[in-house]
Amino acid sequence: MDQQERLFTDNEIRSWITGELSDEEIKTVHKKSLVPFYDQIWVTGKGAYLTDSKGKEYLDCTSQAWTSNIGFSNPDVTFAVHEQLKTLQHVRYGFPTPPRVRFIHKLTSITPGDLKKIAVNAMGGSAAIEAALRLSMLNKPGAEHFYTFTRAYHGSTLATMTLSTRFAGVTRFRPWGFDRVSKIPYPYCYRCPMGQESEKTCHLECLELTKQMIEYGSVDKVCGIIMEPIQAPGGHIPTPMRYMKELRKWTKENGIFLIWDESQLFTRIGYWFSSDYYNVVPDITCLTKAVGGGLPMGVTIARDDLKGFNSAEEHSTFGANPLMFASGLVFLNYVEKANLLKNTREQGEYITSKLKQLQQKYDVIGDIRCPGLMIGIELIKDPETKEPANALCSDLIEEAMNQGVIFGHMAPISSDSGKLFRNVCKIKPPLIISREDSDHILEVFESALEEAMDYM
Ligand SMILES: Cc1ncc(COP(=O)(O)O)c(C=O)c1O
Repeated sequence: MDQQERLFTDNEIRSWITGELSDEEIKTVHKKSLVPFYDQIWVTGKGAYLTDSKGKEYLDCTSQAWTSNIGFSNPDVTFAVHEQLKTLQHVRYGFPTPPRVRFIHKLTSITPGDLKKIAVNAMGGSAAIEAALRLSMLNKPGAEHFYTFTRAYHGSTLATMTLSTRFAGVTRFRPWGFDRVSKIPYPYCYRCPMGQESEKTCHLECLELTKQMIEYGSVDKVCGIIMEPIQAPGGHIPTPMRYMKELRKWTKENGIFLIWDESQLFTRIGYWFSSDYYNVVPDITCLTKAVGGGLPMGVTIARDDLKGFNSAEEHSTFGANPLMFASGLVFLNYVEKANLLKNTREQGEYITSKLKQLQQKYDVIGDIRCPGLMIGIELIKDPETKEPANALCSDLIEEAMNQGVIFGHMAPISSDSGKLFRNVCKIKPPLIISREDSDHILEVFESALEEAMDYM
């Protein structure tokens, strides 16, 4: 077979990829894009660090949308994708390829309990969650109503937007499918919806309310409850252990599917799955972000006994992409071989314990939430009122950026009354960070906090 001829030199192609952009090119693309861009242009990434077009280096505690868990341009991923690219770049959805087969084997060897059936897409979390909706409706004919939680985020497609809360500025139009989705109160203990202040007096009143809303308030047959075991965009809020166990028990007894969205959680919390942390297994779970090793991937994983799709019900042009499977396969093996879950727990515990010491010193630090390297710091104006310190949080993040550390910012949640929550600073670096990196993160956090407090 003849080799296709190269039309361009290496240098020509390199110049398209890493060549310096002119101001004119940047200005024009801002005008031509339907979506806004930031001003900063990332050119290279290595390990936990990104470098911008001006040559400044940053330790990235956002892992670029909480995704690059084994580091930017991971050398093993780079090799695998290169090898696969040289071998075969694209096949149609129905066809297995060696990396697709091996990825499914590897992932199902670590999935919890009876979660052993998998569908993979190359689009990400929203598509994985939509597949979970379809799969659960397929397995509970006639039931098409779903419950989701206040402050939840499940994606940006029309269906997943309907499952999500109304993030300020995100949903300027009314999503479709409201008649199929109802919201229930999220167990946000720091701001308990039932007014409880201590775990000692809490009898999971919020769960009792949820049960009553579903049992006596539903008009249609209920198919499932969808939740992030630890709410991520909504403010890094873990579901309490007791709540999760009780919810699982009740959904099982009532034949309601429990569907998890672990988009941000897979490996980041120091465990492969949230099940390993909560000791609770849902009926269906969804992954994206880290699982593709940095390439686009969404995964829906269901109970072994559930009926699967026919070939038209779950299908997409790029869903069998061998590059993504090669990269995802390396990701799973890399986390295992480099013992990254242990590092994640250790660095996470270290950073969290140091932050708790800072909390004694600064009463604007209202709450510190984990586990693993899924760290959220809720900033408040006053410990009595817990009024969200939104501006302080923005200033802290901006100042840290000046000092070369990128922290994440909670997505803005607003109410019609004008109350805004944008007061959680997120620390979610690649899981490969060292103790020195952790110390650097803490040092910059404190110095940026002090600077930001000066503007208050
Ligand atoms: C918790 C959660 N669910 C779902 C999604 C949607 O994933 P995607 O953007 O890949 O569709 C995201 C993305 O940020 C997420 O954080």
